Amino acid sequence: MTTQPSEIPEPPASAPLVHARGIVKSFRVDHTRIPVLKGVDLDVAAGEVLLLVGPSGSGKTTLLSVIAGILDADEGTLTVLDRDLFSMTEDEKTAFRREAMGFVFQQFNLLPTLTATENVAVPLLIRGLKKEAAFARAIEVLKTLGMGGRLTSTPSHLSGGEQQRVAIARALVTEPRLLLCDEPTANLDAETGHRVVEALCRVGKRPDRAMIIVTHDTRIFEFGDRLVHMDDGRIREVQHMNEEELR
Ligand SMILES: Nc1ncnc2c1ncn2[C@@H]1O[C@H](COP(=O)(O)OP(=O)(O)OP(=O)(O)O)[C@@H](O)[C@H]1O
Ligand SMILES: [Mg+2]
Repeated sequence: MTTQPSEIPEPPASAPLVHARGIVKSFRVDHTRIPVLKGVDLDVAAGEVLLLVGPSGSGKTTLLSVIAGILDADEGTLTVLDRDLFSMTEDEKTAFRREAMGFVFQQFNLLPTLTATENVAVPLLIRGLKKEAAFARAIEVLKTLGMGGRLTSTPSHLSGGEQQRVAIARALVTEPRLLLCDEPTANLDAETGHRVVEALCRVGKRPDRAMIIVTHDTRIFEFGDRLVHMDDGRIREVQHMNEEELR
């Protein structure tokens, strides 16, 4: 299967896949604005797995949503795969996301009337793959995540951890250049969580790809290259995971 979208130019080998500067975002609640991101600078290098940690409410999901182009920032600049995200129209952002990104949302956002296989096949069908090929590929990815026995179940008949694995398979199936995962192991036991992160890393750790994982799960820290700590809308600390003391 061709997974490299032809429309997206290859950034230079040294360029970060994500380059964010001075990202500010607030939400209007009633008549006041609540600041949530207070000036975030972040680069994600090609081939990097970046772990994003921080207390509940510190802005992790908001930052991921801005990088995905799902939420507009109030201030700052953002380049993703050499494209200036803030200057794109909504249609351009939607097309760009479909071509280049995969997400695992904290809420899984599965389509309730579709089976596991159909849910995972959707991004491939949108890309124009024939149904038979899309389903075969979807089944292959679901099987690597231990979901071979639940292929025809709809989301309401799946456990939380099974729904999570369908969402992960859907993000992985196109082998996207940028994978954005919000708590991908939150509902999984240790062994399944390990298997899932290994599958994510098989795509996300490739030299021309990258992955950001929001997580509280210290069991998956071994997979990360850098650990970025957020607190109160700011990045407070960045640790490189190859340092001996983190092992
Ligand atoms: N649509 C919204 N409207 C108003 N406030 C929002 C909205 N989305 C998020 N917030 C607020 O922004 C802050 C950061 O939320 P965010 O979801 O980014 O946190 P988080 O770090 O992902 O937390 P968690 O670990 O609990 O998922 C929170 O105080 C939240 O209440
Ligand atoms: Mg969150």
